[in-house]
Amino acid sequence: EELCQDNRRKGRPQLGEVEGILLSQSTCNEWQRIQSFQARPDDLLICTYPKAGTTWIQEIVDMIQQDGDLEKCKRAPVHHRHPFIEWARPPQPSGVEQAEAMPSPRTLKTHLPVKLLPPSFWEQKCKFLYVARNAKDCMVSYYHFQRMSKVVPDPGPWHEYFEMFMAGKVGWGPWHDHVKGWWKVKDMHCVLFLFYEDMKKVMPSPQDPKCEIQKVAQFLGKNLDQELLEKIVYHTSFDVMKDNPMANRSGIPVSIMDQSISPFMRKGTVGDWKNHFTVAQNERFEDDYEKKMAGTNLTFCMEL
Ligand SMILES: *[C@@H]1O[C@H](CO)[C@@H](O)[C@H](O)[C@H]1NC(C)=O
Ligand SMILES: *[C@@H]1O[C@H](CO)[C@@H](O)[C@H](O)[C@H]1NC(C)=O
Repeated sequence: EELCQDNRRKGRPQLGEVEGILLSQSTCNEWQRIQSFQARPDDLLICTYPKAGTTWIQEIVDMIQQDGDLEKCKRAPVHHRHPFIEWARPPQPSGVEQAEAMPSPRTLKTHLPVKLLPPSFWEQKCKFLYVARNAKDCMVSYYHFQRMSKVVPDPGPWHEYFEMFMAGKVGWGPWHDHVKGWWKVKDMHCVLFLFYEDMKKVMPSPQDPKCEIQKVAQFLGKNLDQELLEKIVYHTSFDVMKDNPMANRSGIPVSIMDQSISPFMRKGTVGDWKNHFTVAQNERFEDDYEKKMAGTNLTFCMEL
């Protein structure tokens, strides 16, 4: 309640709710249109929990699709290249409208949990590319994102945010249900399930079975040679992307994202949670995590 008042005072929007999942109110207002979205069989849907490496995988996918042609990858900022299906902020065209206007084959983006995905994606047997990132780093990254993005609620102080995140009271709902949901459907649908932490361990040899970029390419029906693979590894490295105006959100006005508070591309590392979690918070988190993740064999690497 106090946080709600605080948000109103700061002019930050409130979240709405669909089936117990918090989503931006403008998304909730468009929910019927989002649910009846018509997927096409050749759609590729990039799926992530917020702050799990979405922009990163989008750039990797685009570079593969454009055969490494950097000029083509610069045709638009990355968040405009792939319509974000549940995004709605009138009077701008919604994600659904952008996707409808796009010729096939389309690459689309979503943060929706499995249970809220428009059913036509399953019916059309689309390809899904899911990137999962460990919960602790997602929490830290989400906290800094909510500090700087003016179109999401203010996170409040870290210790309060910590509790809200654990309780799943953040946009797109609980992290645990999100990753477990996508993990569960991966064998029933065409899902390539990747881990952010594995993507960080780049092994730039096309023959390396652990080469995550090559896995993405093969999933898209392509095979990268050494030269192209190295080019993609380089252009999608954190430092290069941070300086890429088509990736770093530099065109977004300060009234929407204030990058002087925290840059959109902040650190891109594994294990930054250790600089934020207290020992007591870590213990509480681990206890809760064990309960919520019981019964799944999904394991995460929390540090490299
Ligand atoms: C984004 O990239 C441009 C071009 O390299 C750079 O001038 C700008 O400072 C970067 N913006 C941020 C917020 O890092
Ligand atoms: C874990 O479970 C998933 C789905 O339930 C299954 O596909 C996978 O093979 C299992 N992995 C291991 C290492 O047991």
